[in-house]
Amino acid sequence: MCGIVGYIGSQGAYDILIQGLKRLEYRGYDSAGVALVDTDGCLNVHKAHGKVANLESVAAMGNTNGTIGISHTRWATHGEPTDTNAHPHVSQTGEIALVHNGTIENYAVLKKALTDHGYTFRSETDTEVLVQLIQYIKDTTKCSLFEAVREALLQVEGAYAIAVIEKGDPDTLIAARKASPLVIGVGENETFIASDATPIIGYTDRVIYLKDNEIAVIKRGEPLSIMSLDSNEPSKIDIQKLKLSLAQLEKGGYDTFMLKEIFEQPATLRDCLRGRITDDGARVVLSGVELNKDKFLECERITLVACGTSWHAALIGKRLIQDFCRVPVEVEYASEFRYGNPVLGPKDVVISISQSGETADTLAAIQIAKEKGAFVYGVCNVVGASIPRNTDAGTYIHVGPEIGVASTKAFTGQVTVLTLLALALGQLRGVIDAEKVREVATALKAIPATIEETLKCDAEVQTLSRIFTYAHNFLYLGRGYNYPTALEGALKLKEISYIHAEGYPAAEMKHGPIALIDHEMPSVIIAPSDSLYDKIISNVQQVKSRGGAVVAIVSKGNTAMNDIADYCIEIPSVPECLTPLVASIPLQLLAYYIAVNKGKDVDQPRNLAKSVTVE
Ligand code: AGP
Ligand code: GLU
Repeated sequence: MCGIVGYIGSQGAYDILIQGLKRLEYRGYDSAGVALVDTDGCLNVHKAHGKVANLESVAAMGNTNGTIGISHTRWATHGEPTDTNAHPHVSQTGEIALVHNGTIENYAVLKKALTDHGYTFRSETDTEVLVQLIQYIKDTTKCSLFEAVREALLQVEGAYAIAVIEKGDPDTLIAARKASPLVIGVGENETFIASDATPIIGYTDRVIYLKDNEIAVIKRGEPLSIMSLDSNEPSKIDIQKLKLSLAQLEKGGYDTFMLKEIFEQPATLRDCLRGRITDDGARVVLSGVELNKDKFLECERITLVACGTSWHAALIGKRLIQDFCRVPVEVEYASEFRYGNPVLGPKDVVISISQSGETADTLAAIQIAKEKGAFVYGVCNVVGASIPRNTDAGTYIHVGPEIGVASTKAFTGQVTVLTLLALALGQLRGVIDAEKVREVATALKAIPATIEETLKCDAEVQTLSRIFTYAHNFLYLGRGYNYPTALEGALKLKEISYIHAEGYPAAEMKHGPIALIDHEMPSVIIAPSDSLYDKIISNVQQVKSRGGAVVAIVSKGNTAMNDIADYCIEIPSVPECLTPLVASIPLQLLAYYIAVNKGKDVDQPRNLAKSVTVE
């Protein structure tokens, strides 16, 4: 999720690490820390909640000597952003320091076992369990640090990129990865490791991209060794030449953060889903629900409160929960809810949805819901933000920092968590049959790959965008699950291209909006082959018969629409309730390319903030 920088060589490590962390700041983070081994073997650790500047203030009062070190910027997943939860984490004996990006799914089981062996923990993080496990293995088997790291990782389930150093050994740095990225920079008598190549630029252009389940053993004065975690056999070392500029690297080679985040969605949804559906697809496991079963069993109504894109996700959540859980669901703009004198009581569950966890209206809505006795549940992306700290329970979407102001990966992360929540509540209340759970959960587990397939429409959408660059208005139409998708597509276009766009339920056209249709009013119509397809076909024909151009989002293989709509973008077929996740991808790309064609600042659109912390 966030940032790692490591160094071993002939230079002072501290300045290289701090500079490297600053180059990773663009990724967003909540804490930072460094660990160094001095030439006398002393292990010195400095860490702080907040910005790298805070870390520098703390470190300035301590020992920052040494030519080997590891450092970290944290994006909290387990345990709020605090000094104690910041990385590096040190083993109980004070001998091993470790930094980690990712999530350890089975940390609770491992923590219990270590506690039974007398280990105590200082932090709330999953990461500390790993460093304690390494220490335990090293102490009980008297093996090397490498062997202890390897054995520990064989016991870990989840995602990790780690770097490890040891007191008394200023000559060894160990790094490993599974699902979280790690790059090795090969210099002259010095080696760097980092989450991406940005901290390495300027020192060397020779890089190795560590692969999943590989462990690198970097020893001063010896050739680099990369081993396979499973076989313990040496891996082939493939040194590549770095070609990207610093600016390009911050955006992962993409032109903007928004485009990077659109293309990140397969990976971020893997992170979002990790550990939440059983391997056989039979069950959804959300700890927030498991720990509050009584509240969800007793509730007689669920109210979703949110703003903007998160409110669109809430509208999809309403359909999901009503379909799978058979509980009445209401959706409210948080700003309307907070001043609407809502009638709530102990049989009400209010679910807030927020990427930033700092939206003022949503935060106020939560307070009012709590004052009125409702149980308040949060769906949020930023761990430890104000909203999760004020809800009774919740589920994080774990899509990593979203830098682009226009929300993309957070939207699909929210819809994914709401799908999981609806399935979990349906299971809990016994109103969804096992086959339905398996059908949807299996398709949901495959959604990262499905979206990867959907993203192949990129070039086609970019070409299409040129036709509409100078449109002044747009209509987005959808039905059922895809009415909110239409709203979201319209908002994406509005907020980054500044073209006026409206989302409407397609059937509403005849109640007024159809008066707008002419050759200057293009329509985007979301028309997957679902239960409402025959209805939406007539909406397409209504628009066409009045001279309006139609871009139809259709299911792969639906060639019939080619005879009706002007342009068709095909998306893979998925269960109806998952179509918003897939249909939103071409809509994100269409808005993006139209805005780029118009020369707009896609990442920082005018008048907008990433988090609206005021009314
Ligand atoms: C979406 O692209 C916008 N950035 C905006 O509508 C956003 O969704 C809204 O401000 C809510 O933000 P939140 O999810 O952080 O609460
Ligand atoms: N899961 C770890 C934590 O919450 C690491 C998070 C990260 O990737 O920064 O501290």
